Amino acid sequence: MSKTIIISNRLPLKIALEDDKLRVTPSVGGLATGLKSFHKDGDSIWIGWSGLTEEEIPDHLEEEVKEKAKAEDCIAVNLTEEEVDGFYYGFSNRTIWPLFHYFMEFTEAEHASWEIYKQVNIKYAKEVLKHYEAGDRVWVHDYQLLLVPKLIRDEEPEAIIGFFNHIPFPSYEVFRTLPWRESVLEGMLGADLIGFHTYDYERHFLSSVTRILRHKVDFNEVTLPERIVKVDSFPMGIDYKKFEDAALNHFRGTEDEQSELQRRLDLHLEATPDAKLILSIDRLDYTKGIANRIRAFEYFLDKYPEFIEKVRLVMLAVPSRSNVPQYQRLKREIDELVGRINGKFSTVSWTPIWYFYRSMPFDNLIDLYTSCDVALLTPIRDGMNLVAKEYIATRTDHTGVLILSEMAGAAHEMNEALIINPNNFEQIALTLKQAIEMPKEEQIERNKTLQKRLKRYNVEKWAKDFMQALKNTEDNRRSFE
Ligand code: UDP
Ligand code: G6P
Repeated sequence: MSKTIIISNRLPLKIALEDDKLRVTPSVGGLATGLKSFHKDGDSIWIGWSGLTEEEIPDHLEEEVKEKAKAEDCIAVNLTEEEVDGFYYGFSNRTIWPLFHYFMEFTEAEHASWEIYKQVNIKYAKEVLKHYEAGDRVWVHDYQLLLVPKLIRDEEPEAIIGFFNHIPFPSYEVFRTLPWRESVLEGMLGADLIGFHTYDYERHFLSSVTRILRHKVDFNEVTLPERIVKVDSFPMGIDYKKFEDAALNHFRGTEDEQSELQRRLDLHLEATPDAKLILSIDRLDYTKGIANRIRAFEYFLDKYPEFIEKVRLVMLAVPSRSNVPQYQRLKREIDELVGRINGKFSTVSWTPIWYFYRSMPFDNLIDLYTSCDVALLTPIRDGMNLVAKEYIATRTDHTGVLILSEMAGAAHEMNEALIINPNNFEQIALTLKQAIEMPKEEQIERNKTLQKRLKRYNVEKWAKDFMQALKNTEDNRRSFE
């Protein structure tokens, strides 16, 4: 029976070594959390990196790493230290990630890391080919594996290959600055179907294909000499039911079942019943606009001092890519900002910012989503932003206000949220005030519409639509022959 081979840099599980024992935790990030539901239900295997380097894994634990992955229908690829450096921290996260998010000043163009990126893409493609059987569908994910579709196509010309990019695709004027732009586009065009979160990213990609490779593009089809490649947008959804159910069960839980975090949140609410909690959750990444968000919050407290002791920013920043200098600098900047602002505004009984620098288990995320009156998400650029959708899905009594940056892919589908420009502090401060003061009826009306849409366009529908479109490309192929 044919299967789907999912391939992404990171597996949905992350394996770490602690005291000579393996510890498995779920991976953080939209790709892993979203795709996990599709993988769990379907007939698929998932190939990706375990999170460990080859050098780190002691001989006696090699088998166990494989078994831990296999238990979740995953196949672990182990990368060497050199590969992690050049491919992951290097080309993926110091070249493609900043460039595709329009951070050109952070973008490096190191030939050596490009070479390793190519090598590791070959390594992944080989792993796919090892498991590939005629009739299988291959679904390649994200910016770390842009060359994999072509590498598979070169070996298996008849393979059905889909590629989905989880981050923005930048405008031609930005993309053209990449020294290896032709190879990257050719790599992606190895697929039969290329998917993006939004129509804008799709257009940018097609415009680069036309102008750089000079291929013929009709609407959303690229005509290559031997094949047609279809390009489309598929906004990724969430496992709506999982978040809704978790929120409903959360409210039914008894006091004994409450987490320490929930107890602290409740204590805060009891002590200051009219105070509002404002939530911020992201990986600690410069694309997420976290530093700007804190500055905007400071501006808000300066401008509207009547909210002192009446609001608190609950900020969860998940450690991410901490070997990359920009991420280290950002961590220091955020630490300083939080310290300074807490120092500036704190009173004996109140601190304006509660800051957590760690990842939290699912249940604690639900505690935060369900306890906070406002979610303030202000990315400078974001492919989608699933946190925005998760917040709305957990608001089972339909209250809560989402403030969302217009630069997030999710903003295209979430018009009923309060949409802001993340660089406009004045607007953010005003919008925060509006959110805090928004009447319940208005909150309910906005959220009901959002919830209806998110429920319908959930992650299952996203995967189904993509897979159906991939299947349709087979017919295209026949008519081309
Ligand atoms: N998340 C998580 N643990 C945490 C914080 C966040 O698993 O401690 C998840 C969150 O539920 C969401 C994902 O990480 O599904 C973040 O996805 P998003 O699309 O918002 O941003 P990305 O990290 O992919 O840029
Ligand atoms: C984003 C990317 C994913 C990535 C995730 C976490 O969601 O689109 O490809 O896995 O961030 O980043 P990390 O570098 O830890 O895999």
